[in-house]
Amino acid sequence: MPQDLYSVRMRASKAGRHLSGAERIIVPDKIDDVLRAFVARAMERADGPDEVFVKVERLKDGPPRELTALDVVTVNVRDVREGRSAAAVILQKSGVSRSAAETAVRSLAGGPGPSGEIMRGAIIMDAQNGERLEQDRSRGVRVSRFDWSESASVEIDRLLVTAGLTHFRTKEALALATKVAHAPGVVAELCWSDEPDYTAGYAASLKTGYVRFPRLKDPGDTNGGRVFFVDRAVLDLDALMRYLQKEAVLVTATGKCGDAVEPGMNFLHPVGKIEKP
Ligand code: COA
Ligand code: AMP
Repeated sequence: MPQDLYSVRMRASKAGRHLSGAERIIVPDKIDDVLRAFVARAMERADGPDEVFVKVERLKDGPPRELTALDVVTVNVRDVREGRSAAAVILQKSGVSRSAAETAVRSLAGGPGPSGEIMRGAIIMDAQNGERLEQDRSRGVRVSRFDWSESASVEIDRLLVTAGLTHFRTKEALALATKVAHAPGVVAELCWSDEPDYTAGYAASLKTGYVRFPRLKDPGDTNGGRVFFVDRAVLDLDALMRYLQKEAVLVTATGKCGDAVEPGMNFLHPVGKIEKP
């Protein structure tokens, strides 16, 4: 009989400010090790958390949905201006209008929260007119309950190391972006981190794969965030929120990790039939 699976989630904060978070989907035998690793990861931060929360929750809604990871490519942009404009092009190839792509870039650059602060989750944006659809503009939507399967985790580590992408964030963001790209009604995603020393970000979709840009902001910039672009014609917002927040997803197969390309090079390939949940 297959073993039960558990969602294990960690978040660390200081003076009420979120510092870091991580999650896994694992069999019971692994819970001890993962808890230890999560607490160590939280405590390693230079800005020392004053609270670390860990949740362990049995997945009760049947086996996770299994997905294949998006293909990964890096576009060697030289600066932020080139990075943001190349990301907007990728979003347009995914079905986002130029004005919505530009609105999204402006929102993240200026701080997407109501007073220009960062959000606790992602913006949901109409892919055509750039209207914001998330109910709470401070929180947005937070994707949860996703992980790599054991075999896909080993394989993606190998592929990412070969491609020179050794930062743990790339692997985690790729799993998150894979779940998001398969979400009902989602057309594309744009992300760059709010961490001041992490300047890379990505635009992702089923059509383009995960397209990474080393520079979407300048070092020291504390703004960042995520935008999920949706097709209003087919959107069921409740179903989308439920899928992103609650439905468990395991990425069980890797895509391709290509060599880095120069801006302007055409690296996109025709995509076969892809099923949405
Ligand atoms: N930013 C700011 N606050 C956050 C936060 C974030 N990213 N994540 C959690 N919090 C705080 C909020 O105050 C939140 O309350 P809210 O729902 O009103 O916003 C509170 O913690 C509880 O959050 P919740 O999501 O219920 O906690 P959780 O223990 O179930 O899961 C995480 C926490 C961080 C593991 C999960 O939200 C997450 O982000 N998972 C993805 C982690 C990951 O792999 N990220 C990769 C990005 S590269
Ligand atoms: P990070 O990549 O962790 O630096 O996060 C960048 C931004 O993405 C944050 O400022 C949040 O706005 C948003 N974010 C963080 N975690 C999630 C999540 N689990 N789902 C959706 N958006 C998130």
